[in-house]
Amino acid sequence: MFHEGFVLSSAAIARQTTNAVVPALIIRGVHEQLLGGLHPSIFLKRHWHKLPLLIRGAIPDYSDLLDLRALISIAASGECESRLILCNDGQYELVHGPLRRGLFRDLPPRNWTLLVHGINHVSRPARDLLSRFSFLPHARLDDLMVSYAAPGGGVGPHVDSYDVFLLQGSGKRRWQVSKQSDLEPVADSPLRILRSFRPAGSCDVACGDMLYLPPHYAHNGVALEPCFTYSIGFSAPEYQELKSQFLAYLDDHIRIDGRYRDPQLAIPAHSGEISNDMIAKTADTLSRIKWKHSTVVDFLGRYLSEPKPHIVLRPPPNPTYTEFAKRARNEGIELHPALPLLFRGSYAFINGEAFKITPSERTGIVALADNRRLSGPQVRKAGGALRTFYDWYGNCFLCVGKWGPT
Ligand code: SIN
Ligand code: CO
Repeated sequence: MFHEGFVLSSAAIARQTTNAVVPALIIRGVHEQLLGGLHPSIFLKRHWHKLPLLIRGAIPDYSDLLDLRALISIAASGECESRLILCNDGQYELVHGPLRRGLFRDLPPRNWTLLVHGINHVSRPARDLLSRFSFLPHARLDDLMVSYAAPGGGVGPHVDSYDVFLLQGSGKRRWQVSKQSDLEPVADSPLRILRSFRPAGSCDVACGDMLYLPPHYAHNGVALEPCFTYSIGFSAPEYQELKSQFLAYLDDHIRIDGRYRDPQLAIPAHSGEISNDMIAKTADTLSRIKWKHSTVVDFLGRYLSEPKPHIVLRPPPNPTYTEFAKRARNEGIELHPALPLLFRGSYAFINGEAFKITPSERTGIVALADNRRLSGPQVRKAGGALRTFYDWYGNCFLCVGKWGPT
């Protein structure tokens, strides 16, 4: 039962056509199947940031990225942020990771869920799954979260502030959704559970189905049987956050020398009053804080390319440039899984740093930013960027071959 505006799509839906130029990033067929037959440009126009979409069989024959044992291991290791949520009669208990393995032996057979963030940082299949969403800008990608839920388990009715694709893995889950405007959370709950959730529609999803939800759409997912759910989240910074970060950036980048001076000071009528002169000179000094379009580009590039705070980069023992170049030309290179590489104009941004791109580096850097990896032959074509790639390799921004054992 779906409420008005909650659109059901399936691979069987008549193929939509568009006259829009298909960007090179869009692999026809792959993305369209993922979006239930919709071309990504149609999806963006109709649904993105606006309207939910349920896609039956978004990834046919989908198989889980990992099993419960592996998920518990990651949650226990502390390499990814994790949470265990127990729910009973509308009451929720939250335990933050790292989570002891022993904890899972004592859990009841029902009503709990384990959520692990940033699985794409530690799992290659997770990164491969994310690459299916490459029709969306990397600057908006947050991470891939995996949840396992025992029957009855879920995080409760809530809203997210980001766009999310909820891909169902093995097992069945029931989603309830609501476009309600009352998003007030329950007071004194460890989770931001909605005080009053009025579902307007629900659907049961099975392996390979996917539900897209725009930000601030109330939803509640309850496991009908033991199940895995994969949340591909696209975050957007709050204006308050952008403002604070931009002011901090300006503080780091702008210097105003000198000190307030008042050689003409006259005896004030009131010693306790702030004088007109002091206010005028301060206003004049502060009006010298200026920024240009290029300041905003530089700020945004650095800010959006920063990794999450818990990410530690471990630079490799330094090989010579010749050694690196030889291996990179054969094996290819791949970006660190937790680092976005972004670019704009003649600058590339990675790890919160800005790099000027020379014309001969451009093709290689742009291809790496879009695809996150370059094969050996692609590295050979990107010859001009090889020196920069070598520097980035030395800083652990990328590796030779493919990243990690998993
Ligand atoms: C879950 O996987 O249980 C929660 C995902 C969500 O509701 O955002
Ligand atoms: Co949610």
